[in-house]
Parts: sequence; structure tokens; C-alpha cells
Amino acid sequence: MPASTALTFDVKPNQKPLAESDRLKAFENLGFGTLFSDHMAVIRWTSEKGWHSGEITARAPFPIDPASSVLHYAQEIFEGMKAYRAADGRVVLFRPEENARRFNESARRMAMPELPEQAFLDAVEKLVRIDAKWIPEGEGSLYLRPFMFASETFLGVRPSKEYIFCVIASPVGPYFKGGAKPVKIWVSENFTRAALGGTGAAKCGGNYAASLVAQAEAVEHGCDQVVFLDAAEHRWVEELGGMNVFFVMDDGSVLTPPLGGTILPGITRKSLIQLARDEGIVVEEKQYSFEEWRADAASGRLREAFACGTAAVVAGIGTVKFKGGEFQIGTGETGPVTTKLRQALVGIQRGQGNDQHGWLHPI
Ligand code: PLP
Ligand code: COI
Repeated sequence: MPASTALTFDVKPNQKPLAESDRLKAFENLGFGTLFSDHMAVIRWTSEKGWHSGEITARAPFPIDPASSVLHYAQEIFEGMKAYRAADGRVVLFRPEENARRFNESARRMAMPELPEQAFLDAVEKLVRIDAKWIPEGEGSLYLRPFMFASETFLGVRPSKEYIFCVIASPVGPYFKGGAKPVKIWVSENFTRAALGGTGAAKCGGNYAASLVAQAEAVEHGCDQVVFLDAAEHRWVEELGGMNVFFVMDDGSVLTPPLGGTILPGITRKSLIQLARDEGIVVEEKQYSFEEWRADAASGRLREAFACGTAAVVAGIGTVKFKGGEFQIGTGETGPVTTKLRQALVGIQRGQGNDQHGWLHPI
């Protein structure tokens, strides 16, 4: 059944919001993803009714049947985006239409119903409006997590006939504990993230479940994040567990692995490619092997590398570790091109830069 585009939301304000003093205390030490706002947005889908019963309500657990299909076959997708308080006091989102579009690409891959983009945007906007006081001042932001899961009580292996779409909000500080310090990356040789024809380009929970053992290996080796090589040849650099990757060469050009169906088409990645090109920087979307990475770091041909994503923003990569040893990139510090691109992006997101592409979405 075609989903209705004119979805309405029943607004039921939380009668027991967190006390102002507790909220402000929690804001003093913001990490990532541990603190949550007072409300959530929910929309339900059934094969009979399509999308219906939109509501903004108190954040609360979902009652879940043990036979709920998501618990068995993992039909689940999600998005990650942020609301910022701009310098002039406006509340803004960054390219939310891109998240709405990617959400539906993930839905198609996972045989889930598409949500009209306007309903996705309405749900996010209404939640941010009701929980605007949860957007931290200064460098923090309100991380938004739209997600959808299969909720039919059924054990047969076929697409569910019922789904729940939900958006929750979490005030966040820096993703990495070290803050702006360059990160250490572990090259996974035992595990790969995605093969051609698989789900690598979808933002589905299963991709992250599969990455956890590799990420744990990274942490065991004193690293912040894992970087995956391609599944077919174990040769080409793909992406990190939760970020895309860029390389800055000695001729000033920038290189990032191409989107070939096995990596997530990052919105930060797409934005940085544009911002770099705006600065006259040559950007190539080209395969880059781990061997080249090592050799170029040793010869000085590679000057900088950085990871990027909504949660991590732009993080310089200082050291790369692998089974046979480790190497440093450039001086081991965050380089000037990384810093410049980060500032250009953050400036726009915070309403301080020149938003020449119209990426900011005030609400
Ligand atoms: N790659 C993976 C695996 C991710 O989880 C993310 C984060 O969402 C990204 C890349 C970056 O995507 P975006 O810039 O849209 O947040
Ligand atoms: C994001 O950046 O939004 C992600 O989903 C990645 C994860 C590290 C939280």
C-alpha cells in the first residue's frame, strides 16, 4: 500500500521530564551516546495501513515480543545526524534530506518499507523542537538517531509485515575520548566488513555487529578504530568501523576510496569532497592499497590521513598499526589540510561559515 505523505503527529509531552538541574549537571561531562533527551518520535507501519500513528511522546522502552522478527533476522536500519545551536541562536540540521534519502536506500536493501522523506524530516524536526533545550551550547551537539526495525511476531524468514520507525536524541561531546588528538587506527587482516553484493552500502545494524570483533581487536592493540580492507583481495583500503577515510598527498591532492557498494556513502565524505573542490583541491575517488599507504607514509608522499563521519566529524589519523608493525603519518599530528577542511565543515554546521551550497536546514 502506498505510504501516506501527509502523516500527522500526535504530540504528548513528557509529564516527568528530567529536572533542569540534573540536565545541566549531565551536560558538564558529555561523552557519546549515554545521555538521552525527554522525548522520542515514533511512526508505525503495517502492510494493511502503511505508515500511521505518528507521535511525539515521552522516551520510553518498547514492549517487544520474544518472537519479534528483528530479534531473529536483524531487519534494522538507522541514521546518524546532528542538530546544532548556531552562533546566532538558530537551531539547525545539516543536510537532513541526505539522511532521509540514504535511509530509504538502506530500507530497499533490507526489504523494508520506504518512509516518505517528508515524514522522516517532520519526525526529526518535531523531536528537535520539543527537546531543543537538550542541544548543548558550545562544541557539543544533539545527536539524532532515526531507526526502523521489524516488529512482527513471526519466525518465518520473509520481510516483516510490521515495522516501527523511531527517532531518539542524545546530547553529545567528542566521539573520541582523546578529543581533538589524532587517532590510532588498526588495520584488520582477520576480518572484512562487506563484500560486493552484500549490505556494506546500507546503514543496517548487522554491519556494525559484524565489525565489533574487529573493533575489539583494534582496542586490544591500543587503537581507537579499525580500518577494513576489501573482502575480495584483502588489499584495498575501504573505510573504518564507523567513518570514511581520506588521504592527503604531497602534491596537495586528496584521495578517498570510491563508493563501490561495499562502503557507506557518507554525507560528511560527500560534503568534504565538495568543500575541498571549492578550495581548488584536486580530489580523486580512487582505490588505494594498504601497501601503497605504507610505502607512501614511509616516503613522505602521503602527508596526512583523516577519518570522517557525523559522530566523529573530522579526525586526523596519526598512527596506523597492523600485525607486522606500525607506521606514523606525517608528523603524527593533525595536518593543515585536515584542519582546514574540518574548520570549513564545522563553520558551516555551526552557522558561522559561508553556506554556499545551502546545506543548513534551520528549524
Ligand atoms: N562509514 C560508516 C561505516 C559509518 O558508520 C559512518 C557514520 O555514519 C560513516 C561512514 C560516515 O557517514 P556520515 O558522514 O553520513 O555520518
Ligand atoms: C555516525 O557517525 O552517525 C554513525 O552512525 C557512526 C557510529 C560511529 C556512531
